[in-house]
Amino acid sequence: MEVVIQPDRWAATRLAARLIARQVAAKPSCVLGLATGMTMERVYAELVRLHGEEDLDFSLVRTFNLDEYIGIDPGHPGSYRYYMNKKLFDHVNVDVRNTHLPHGTAPDLDEECRRYEALIGACGGIDLQLLGIGRSGHIGFNEPLSALQSRTRAKALTPTTIAQNRDHFDPPSSMPRRGITMGVGTILEARECLLLVTGDSKAGVLAKAVEGPVTSMISATALQLHPRCKVIADEEAAAHLEQKEYYRWIFENEPEWQEFR
Ligand code: GLP
Repeated sequence: MEVVIQPDRWAATRLAARLIARQVAAKPSCVLGLATGMTMERVYAELVRLHGEEDLDFSLVRTFNLDEYIGIDPGHPGSYRYYMNKKLFDHVNVDVRNTHLPHGTAPDLDEECRRYEALIGACGGIDLQLLGIGRSGHIGFNEPLSALQSRTRAKALTPTTIAQNRDHFDPPSSMPRRGITMGVGTILEARECLLLVTGDSKAGVLAKAVEGPVTSMISATALQLHPRCKVIADEEAAAHLEQKEYYRWIFENEPEWQEFR
């Protein structure tokens, strides 16, 4: 795991977007794993800008989102399909047939989860998985006690997650109580992971995710097991990290970060 601390959320977002853009430029037909949430809205706005102003080409890119709510259709404004279309897919030259999210209204959810896993495999696996973190410590919707080898499946959401996301629904009480999510094991199979965390509300959980023991109670800790995981945080989110000076030293001295300093 490498931790990069940026001065503010805009710098952190720009760095995450540049790493994604670098992946797309290096392998135009790459498979991107995508995430939702407020943190990612800025990343997608920056990718849209790079597409418009610097010709970042998504025409061959394939995408798989981490998760989707169960029981609402893709046209519902609270669905993650709707979010992805509005924030990214409608504004870049990706072929929408190459963009995938679990189907939250599938009649057989277990079958849908198997289909999703098989499709990721058929596309050659995920090259770069973008991740945010929930206040419960989840990645995707892998809530506390998610097995560290779990696969794509239906999960009940915790009260913490419902409290965090319910205002995206009208009325808030209509927020679904379950989601389909890639498993922790599915996420760990991505060739590279990129966790972006901003804001002081995430400082406590980020410190546990990066510096705490690996535990299924905080599924983001599983990223410590991944051989190529970058964590980008702004100063606010990094506030409780004990080894900040060490992370800064690595960023200043590792040649791989030279083009981003
Ligand atoms: C949801 C998503 C997660 C995301 C989290 C953080 O719960 N399922 O994938 O990481 O929100 O959201 P935000 O960026 O709004 O804090």
